[in-house]
Amino acid sequence: MKTTICKNYDEMSLVAAYIMAERVRTKPDCVLGLATGGTPVGMYAALADMHRRSGLDFSRVTSFNLDEYYPIKKSNDQSYDYFMWDNLFSHINIKRENVNILDGEAADPDAECREYEARMAGAGGIDLQVLGIGLNGHIGFNEPENEMHVLTHKTGLTESTIEANARFFASAADVPRHSLTMGMGSIMAAKSILLLISGKNKAEVVKRLFAGRITTSCPATLLHLHPDVTLLLDEDAASLI
Ligand code: GLP
Repeated sequence: MKTTICKNYDEMSLVAAYIMAERVRTKPDCVLGLATGGTPVGMYAALADMHRRSGLDFSRVTSFNLDEYYPIKKSNDQSYDYFMWDNLFSHINIKRENVNILDGEAADPDAECREYEARMAGAGGIDLQVLGIGLNGHIGFNEPENEMHVLTHKTGLTESTIEANARFFASAADVPRHSLTMGMGSIMAAKSILLLISGKNKAEVVKRLFAGRITTSCPATLLHLHPDVTLLLDEDAASLI
């Protein structure tokens, strides 16, 4: 992994936005894999700013989001669909028809996951996939397990993730218990990966990432097998390495 330690969250967000913008400039019809959570919010704000100030053009970009709660209505302000429009898509010139987000309202979630994989393949695969990381090392909603799914699938959330994500909902009881998520194989198929990690509470999982082992009990460690991962950390997240 090509690792850069940034001073703080703002610097990490700016560096991440420059990496994304560079990809969009050099390949205007690129396919971006996007993530949600608190971590990429600053990067999305910086990208929206680049669009506003210097006309960074997303008109030919296609996006695929990593995951979505299940079940959840798009209109729920905690859905990842809502998050993406709120934080990024409404502020840039991406075309609605080029935005792909797993449907948390799908009547047949397995069919939705199969179709999503077909759509990604049809778009030529993901050029650059943004990732955050859960406290337990999950990526997307690929939680620590003995066996991991290769492709996009419906899965359950662990108690740790429900607890961590409860801060965004009225209470832990309101966090959906399931999600639809790209699988480890879908993520690893991206040509390049940009992993963002910020904050003291992530220092332990970063330590695990740097322990020199690959294990499905910390799914992010599998990223060591990918040939092109850029890891951006802030000093707090890097404080134990
Ligand atoms: C969520 C998402 C992940 C995200 C992670 C970290 O559960 N499914 O895609 O990377 O948690 O979120 P945060 O950036 O808020 O710490």
